[in-house]
Amino acid sequence: MGLAIEAVNLVKRYRTKKRLGLFKSVTEVVEALKGVSFSVRYGEVVGLLGPNGAGKTTTIKILATLLIPDGGEARVAGYDVVEEADKVRKNIGLMLTVEKGFYGKLTGRENLEYFAALYGMDRDVARERIDYLIKLLELDKLGADTKLYEEFSLGMKARLSLARALLTDAPILLLDEPTLGLDPPSARKIRELVKDLAHRDGKAVLYTTHNMFEAELVCDRIIMINKGRIVAEGTPAELKERIPKLKVLNIAVRGNQGNLKDILNSIDSKFEVDSGEADVHNIKVYLKKPEEVLDELLKKFIGRGFEVVSIKIEEPTLEDVFIYFSGGST
Ligand SMILES: Nc1ncnc2c1ncn2[C@@H]1O[C@H](COP(=O)(O)OP(=O)(O)OP(=O)(O)O)[C@@H](O)[C@H]1O
Ligand SMILES: [Mg+2]
Repeated sequence: MGLAIEAVNLVKRYRTKKRLGLFKSVTEVVEALKGVSFSVRYGEVVGLLGPNGAGKTTTIKILATLLIPDGGEARVAGYDVVEEADKVRKNIGLMLTVEKGFYGKLTGRENLEYFAALYGMDRDVARERIDYLIKLLELDKLGADTKLYEEFSLGMKARLSLARALLTDAPILLLDEPTLGLDPPSARKIRELVKDLAHRDGKAVLYTTHNMFEAELVCDRIIMINKGRIVAEGTPAELKERIPKLKVLNIAVRGNQGNLKDILNSIDSKFEVDSGEADVHNIKVYLKKPEEVLDELLKKFIGRGFEVVSIKIEEPTLEDVFIYFSGGST
């Protein structure tokens, strides 16, 4: 069997009109994907991990044939997402964060029956499958048989969305932040199911999240994406091995901004500067051994007339990891 998903150099631009007063507007172009390449095999969960605006939903929508890329290509189940969109759709189960199409006045079960009919499923096959999925996602325990969709909690809505994505038993699942906003038991349920679907049933799963902790729990491989580019890729263990070796040296200094860059450029590490009010500059330097440069750095600051306000050495947070892998300011 070939690859389940193969994306090569995907580019996507959004054009938006920005109003500048009553009669004027300018067209702004947002480059949401700047050449994204990756692949997903059957039997694995691959996480697309990135902060808000990274391009996760855009990637999912291109693979789901809901958006046409401006550059590059993608194949899903061996079919081209642009040229063979119909065939792609037959091979995917899709779950988007903002779900549309469920009917408020229908129960959970009735909604699934509606979609099964829409997908052209045989009635008996559909009934059996819906029974199975309702049990699998514990929608019966939550009363989804009898409750109207409009009365559903967020967790019930998410479970119903996943049930819909699984209706046709498609071999490839595209799940966009499936646990967003859920309580821990619902999130855990969905994560466990997703792993089973890949590891037991052999499905290929592309799973987006902005949560490092979750990515580590669910994913066999993680692709870190930021501002439309892949910044790092590997198994959770491989990525972690690269991360904990770095620490973040946080220094706040007060003084003239002009002298700052010279000092920072003299250290051979990535850094970020956030200049606040009253001439205070918050500086983050990413280092393996901050202790070793701290002395020298402080001397330089003081020598150039800076007042050192605070010093902290911290383990990197997810945000720091992104800043680091995204290149920082150097
Ligand atoms: N329909 C649109 N029109 C204009 N710009 C858009 C549109 N959809 C997304 N964008 C922009 O494209 C970039 C990527 O957006 P995308 O929704 O793919 O990110 P994301 O990783 O899913 O973020 P989030 O975590 O917030 O869901 C962002 O800068 C976003 O503002
Ligand atoms: Mg999104």
